[in-house]
Amino acid sequence: MNPWVLSYGGFDPASEGLREALCTLGNGRFATRGATPDGELRTPGTYAAGCYDRLDSTVTGRTVTNEDLVNLPDWLPLTFATPGSDWFRPERADLLDYRQELDMRHGILHRALRWRDESGRITVVRQRRLVSMADPRLAALETTFIAENWSGPLRVRATLDGSVTNSGVARYRDLRGDHLTGHETGDQDGLTWLTALTRSSQITVALTSRTDTATLAREVIREGDRISTEHVLDLAQGEPATLTKTVALATSRDCAVHDARTAAIRAVRLAPRFHTLVVRHAAAWERLWQRARVDVDGPELSQIVHLHVFHLLQTLSPHTADLDVGVPARGLHGDAYRGHVFWDELFVLPWLNLRFPETSLGLLRYRWRRLPEARAAAQDAGYDGAMFPWQSASDGREQTQTLHLNPASGRWLPDASHLQRHIGLAIAYNVWQYHLATGSMPLWCAELLIDIARFFASLAVLDPASRRYEIRGVMGPDEYHERYPGAASPGLANNAYTNVMTVWLLLRARDTLDLLPELAVSAQERARWDDITRRMRVDFHDGVISQFTGYADLLELDWARYRGVRRLDRALEADGDDINRYKAAKQADTLMLCYLLTSDELAGILNRLGYPVEPSLIPRMIGYYLDRTSHGSTLSAVVHAWILARSDRARSWHFFTETLFSDIKDIQHGTTAEGIHLGAMAGTLDLLQRCYLGLEIHPDGLHLNPLLPDRLGVLSMPIRFRGSQLFIDADHRQARINGAARLNVTSQQGEPTMTGAGDLGRRITHHRERLGLTLEQVADRADMSPGYLQYLEEQPGTPTADAMYRLAGALETTVDDLLGGTVDRPPGRGRAKTAPTLESLDHDECLKLIEPGGIGRVAFNGPHGPTVLPVNYKLHHGSIVFRTASGGPIDQDLRTGQEGVEIKIGFEVDRIDEAQREGWSVLVQGPAHHVSPDELSEVIDADVTPWAGGERHLYVRITPHQITGRRIHHL
Ligand code: BGC
Repeated sequence: MNPWVLSYGGFDPASEGLREALCTLGNGRFATRGATPDGELRTPGTYAAGCYDRLDSTVTGRTVTNEDLVNLPDWLPLTFATPGSDWFRPERADLLDYRQELDMRHGILHRALRWRDESGRITVVRQRRLVSMADPRLAALETTFIAENWSGPLRVRATLDGSVTNSGVARYRDLRGDHLTGHETGDQDGLTWLTALTRSSQITVALTSRTDTATLAREVIREGDRISTEHVLDLAQGEPATLTKTVALATSRDCAVHDARTAAIRAVRLAPRFHTLVVRHAAAWERLWQRARVDVDGPELSQIVHLHVFHLLQTLSPHTADLDVGVPARGLHGDAYRGHVFWDELFVLPWLNLRFPETSLGLLRYRWRRLPEARAAAQDAGYDGAMFPWQSASDGREQTQTLHLNPASGRWLPDASHLQRHIGLAIAYNVWQYHLATGSMPLWCAELLIDIARFFASLAVLDPASRRYEIRGVMGPDEYHERYPGAASPGLANNAYTNVMTVWLLLRARDTLDLLPELAVSAQERARWDDITRRMRVDFHDGVISQFTGYADLLELDWARYRGVRRLDRALEADGDDINRYKAAKQADTLMLCYLLTSDELAGILNRLGYPVEPSLIPRMIGYYLDRTSHGSTLSAVVHAWILARSDRARSWHFFTETLFSDIKDIQHGTTAEGIHLGAMAGTLDLLQRCYLGLEIHPDGLHLNPLLPDRLGVLSMPIRFRGSQLFIDADHRQARINGAARLNVTSQQGEPTMTGAGDLGRRITHHRERLGLTLEQVADRADMSPGYLQYLEEQPGTPTADAMYRLAGALETTVDDLLGGTVDRPPGRGRAKTAPTLESLDHDECLKLIEPGGIGRVAFNGPHGPTVLPVNYKLHHGSIVFRTASGGPIDQDLRTGQEGVEIKIGFEVDRIDEAQREGWSVLVQGPAHHVSPDELSEVIDADVTPWAGGERHLYVRITPHQITGRRIHHL
């Protein structure tokens, strides 16, 4: 199994939805599901971050308004037909082979198929698709056809399809999804375009397409809300023919545009050819992976970890930072949850903060920009400060549905989940975590935190009888309990998670005011906050914290009857019962306290409130609530994996692997096809750092307290902490920072680092190989971990000065050399070793030296005099083989114009070892032969690639007539 590739064999219409979601390609600005370009049973989806629209629908006689992340026009459609046959559809075709591979390292979706038409013609089709991470407006689909046993015309049709609706989720089908209107199509300067308008948000969306192919002729077909171009490719048996569709997507929400259509047309016109697009796109991904890499042992685990990082970065990339968008719970991968933004960022930001803090900041700014709306909502409800909506989308108004469909009963039911006021606590928690990870607290972030604190303080009402503050009329994260059994109105009193986190927030508000006193909160208000932190109500029963007041009076559920049912709310309602009556939770609620707070923090808050805390409280709570949770949300397993990490490692691992597999194996049976679970994906990554490395960020710095399951082997990752780049790796015995062994370490700021280490990795590898040492051996010599050494070889690292000196010593070279200080100087500036000796080399030794291939120089008489040029060569069956550009100087100057008469040239390879102060050179002389197309098979397996890249199709072979060599060494 390749840990960077997700592969699917065969075409299986039943699993297409899942493949489409998992093979989505995106760049943080927009994403496109991995639907086939040519299928009938497909759920296409292209979503631009932040592009929402509201529509009214009528259900059960009521008008409900829903805001959706709009499914945009489909840029993918492309199909083809052999003479006399219908357009290719995989569902109907006689498929001989079918394969789909997602290359996560480079962000490319490959598809390869062989199909036979009714007349027995076999055609191979290979496709590569990307949504550019380098230029976030562009996407492309390259299709290569090979007629295997026939020659003739192949028709190809490439379409932009505007007749797309939000209809990917069966439960929503009674609601309107026809967000696009006012379609227009056109054909301009060889490009086709399609524009549409979202109905109520009036966003213009424009798609432009350019098709590049060898045949210029094309026919434009406009049908309804679609525009297509048709091309005829003249296929010659066995010869590949390629057609590339390059598209640009622009919207009127974009920055730096005049109008969407012009922007899309310009972007596609300026777009390079597919090859260059791929190179730039892959390089952009490489840069992301350098920061985002998480390495674990074992290909299966690695593959899933890569998948989770990949989809997280496709939804929230550096491009996202500037877009004024939040964290969509289901990525940009499907219609589910309508692209709404819940509290899931609580599971996402901890990972981003330590790698892409600028993206985290952008996501926090999304909240800050909606502060006026949140303030208005608080005011309307009679509170102070800012009341954020449970579900947020475009402008920050509450978007939680008021009615939802229970698919188990077919009934539409009232929905009060907007009462999850704890969303504000999650936002404030994220502000604080960002501050801890980066050391920065912008004024606007502080303003956000203070306004949320103000809201929760105003929610808390002092009960004169108990002299405790109470928060009434809310829901906790467990969505099964929205009201007391039989109560007319929804809302619960004193949800422990909300109350305790309110205390935590007011304490952080106090810290924030210490950091930024200019926020000027009155002494009176501060005094009230302080009072709340000492007298908030928390209920207890059976020696555990009660989820809310009155929880103790609820019934125990007959769990045996509902074994394995994750959505008990739906099952009970379908049975005519009500989940509100039972001690049963959809997901961690009270236990969320143990996820967000350390046991010391939790005990500290409870003590401050005057509640005694026995050491057995937390373990008892964990057992109690775990027995009463159905894990109806994928987030639940993330939380429980963490909570059990120290007390029950086997069970923690079970929850961890459950989250790992939740999307790739679709453990909720069908939900992944509607969109990935971004919080759970990010949660697994956070678990690796938090749970297993024991990486915690405290005001005094970074703490590491590793506890790795043996099964995880070695775990390593680069992180960015308060401005320093650190590399952490650990196994079940020990953790290391920048390769040096530490256990239970606290690092304030990271250590001083060396800069200018651009090509360091390659130089380390070079010296290591020169000395014939393994990673482990060099690591041992340099007193650092092999994991860190490997990281330095593969990524641009910035080791400490001390580490650089140790490394240089281990590699028997200088720090200057490792840092590349010698690159732009000719070789051999240093002196040779004392008493140098010049030795002639025999034929075999010469061959041995040049055998690995590499860069050599060809010397010949050019039209302007003697010429020497570097070429990348391979030694192939005793000859030197290299490639050059047809018609270039080597091609023209080395031809005699007479068949069978070849020019004799020189070919030289040398090597100066600056560190060892030795060197050698080998000279080959012989005729240069231009390999003709008929002879290509003789050299093709030399697998020689030009160093300079580019189109160098001509192979040249030098047959050695004479080989000589010399070596300079010391006595
Ligand atoms: C969970 C919420 C979550 C939402 C979006 C729901 O099923 O109960 O906690 O925020 O999904 O992921």
